[in-house]
Amino acid sequence: MQNLDAISSEILSAVDAAETIEALEAVRIDALGKKGRVSLMMRELGGMDPEERKAAGQALNVVKDSIAAAIETRQSDLSRAALDARLTAEAIDVSLPSRPEAEARLHPLSRTIEEVVAIFAEMGFTVAEGPDIESDYYNFTALNIPEEHPARQEHDTFYLPPDGDGRRKVLRTHTSPVQIRTMEAVEPPVRIIVPGRTYRSDHDATHSPMFHQCEGLVIGDGIHMGHLKGCLIDFCRAFFGVDDLPVRFRPSYFPFTEPSAEVDIGCTRDGGGLKIGAGDDWLEILGSGMVNPRVLANCGYDPEKYQGFAFGMGIERIAMLKYGIPDLRTFYDSDLRWMRHYGFLPFDAPSIHAGLVGGTV
Ligand code: DAH
Repeated sequence: MQNLDAISSEILSAVDAAETIEALEAVRIDALGKKGRVSLMMRELGGMDPEERKAAGQALNVVKDSIAAAIETRQSDLSRAALDARLTAEAIDVSLPSRPEAEARLHPLSRTIEEVVAIFAEMGFTVAEGPDIESDYYNFTALNIPEEHPARQEHDTFYLPPDGDGRRKVLRTHTSPVQIRTMEAVEPPVRIIVPGRTYRSDHDATHSPMFHQCEGLVIGDGIHMGHLKGCLIDFCRAFFGVDDLPVRFRPSYFPFTEPSAEVDIGCTRDGGGLKIGAGDDWLEILGSGMVNPRVLANCGYDPEKYQGFAFGMGIERIAMLKYGIPDLRTFYDSDLRWMRHYGFLPFDAPSIHAGLVGGTV
């Protein structure tokens, strides 16, 4: 006990001499830890007589408190110094230019679907969807394409292995089955478009086994060919952005429409390039017709009461024509250079309200 002052000042100078948090912690354990020098002296108090113990105990507590206070002060000094050192070492140079970010693009097919949807939304159409894997009934039979009908062969259908009941599902060959699914689900009036994937076993510069179509269906009381023509003329002019675009309805045949018409737009091929709008040439862009009464009846609609029109177009085809993309296969190559050239900046998307009034579309 006699050398308490000496021990105390020795410990206090060790505290001052500690240059790191770790060194300071070692000093603390050596002094105040369970087996530290001060703690051991505390234990010695037990063997003293009461008078002596009181005086020695008070002295020891003063020393203990002053050591603890010194350690605390030293600790906050050391932490502040460590933080200062880090702040100096890790300074950020805010004048450095940022690293370049790759700019994302919207695929021309996505963009084209958005444009088509925006134009028809303006005319009051809503978007409907259906499954890619279809039953034979929805893909063919309900659309008035019965077994053995030659149109079935033209579709180059992908068949799936037979189900438990022996029936083979198909990858839908067109978006037309969604006409049937919609008419089964809702009562007239109907005004839908159906953008989606379609599949045919065909692969060359102008055909891909997976491609996209957009179907349209309008059913109501008193719908006639004039509605079909007006609707599709407006669509073609809005989509291609040519106000006086010539549009021609050419008689055709589809099992699900009667009468049927293919729709051509005016163009010219003078000078090698294709120019849509003027000229004396024609380009087929979609199929259409008045919904066959048999199809209405198949869906439980009364053909005496309701009439309607339908149409279907290939998304790749109209995208190639509008944006001058020469090869269909490039749509699916995932080539970033191609995307940079033909892709669209996302914030440039067509507004629904830009449909018929011009705007971005
Ligand atoms: N489903 C036809 C096809 O894939 C396109 C089509 C033609 C759809 C006439 C229609 C339509 O709705 O009325 O070739």
